[in-house]
Amino acid sequence: MFRFVARSAGGKHLLRRGYATESAPDRKVAVLGAAGGIGQPLALLMKLNPLVSRLALYDIANTPGVAADVCHVNTRSEVSGYLGQALEGCDVVVIPAGVPRKPGMTRDDLFNINAGIVKGLCAAIAKYCPNALVNMISNPVNSTVPIAAEVFKKAGTYDEKKLFGVTTLDVVRAKTFYAGKAKVNVADVNVPVVGGHAGITILPLFSHATPKANLPEDDIKALTKRTQDGGTEVVEAKAGKGSATLSMAYAGALFADACLKGLNGVPDVVECSFVQSTVTELPFFASKVRLGKNGVEEVLGLGPLSDYEKEGLEKLKPELKASIEKGINFANKS
Ligand code: 2OP
Repeated sequence: MFRFVARSAGGKHLLRRGYATESAPDRKVAVLGAAGGIGQPLALLMKLNPLVSRLALYDIANTPGVAADVCHVNTRSEVSGYLGQALEGCDVVVIPAGVPRKPGMTRDDLFNINAGIVKGLCAAIAKYCPNALVNMISNPVNSTVPIAAEVFKKAGTYDEKKLFGVTTLDVVRAKTFYAGKAKVNVADVNVPVVGGHAGITILPLFSHATPKANLPEDDIKALTKRTQDGGTEVVEAKAGKGSATLSMAYAGALFADACLKGLNGVPDVVECSFVQSTVTELPFFASKVRLGKNGVEEVLGLGPLSDYEKEGLEKLKPELKASIEKGINFANKS
């Protein structure tokens, strides 16, 4: 096992010198897949987060360089780069590892490669940091989260409060697109997005969007479609060079920050996430989730839906169910 440790010069010194968060608890965050397209900007964004005291970067190659680079940023966390086990003592593990889509591919087309990668990483999490909050970014999230759950169940470490599929990019996109159409300040916008994280399983609830804009039905349909196809829009624009990395890293960093705030006891931290759920008949479902000291404090219900949203909800269920089952079967077969 190789461990490369790159420390911020004077990292501890900076803390003593009175960074605003010096009294914040010690929090170790790992990024698995840290040298990849999402992993690198995510590593940077986590380095910028004052709630992180130790940042462990893991990948199968190139991690020493990424760690050496990021550790020069003069913020609180001490950075370590690993080509082997990075997980001991982690509070939050963010997983963007795996391969991205190429034009014409769905997220499910990544299953064969990414399912195995996620399975291996989750076995290591079960062994080295079974109490960490796991933020799954690796696609297809609708299947990789159930895979993770099965791996943890087999290891006897599963806690449904600690496993999250990161769907924050769907929320980020819905907010951006809604603000543009409604001509409101994007910073004021809130839009819950429920269901899953692939195509029609992504269901933005624009009837709950604030500030209210009373957009016509055609606009709502166009916004819904654009949110559902947001990832594909980027895949096509990148023309073979991968999928969303920068916006995904941003969204992953937002969600990890929410998890850290919850762990630290900040009240009323609510984000959408794909979690074990009883909101519908499906065993996993994305909806608003209240985060706390143990991870999920409460999975919030959907609230009233428009007829268009009700229709979208019924349409997404068969696809989401199949993706969940595919993950469960994979985990139990292989
Ligand atoms: C996306 O939505 C990468 O799944 C990610 O673009």
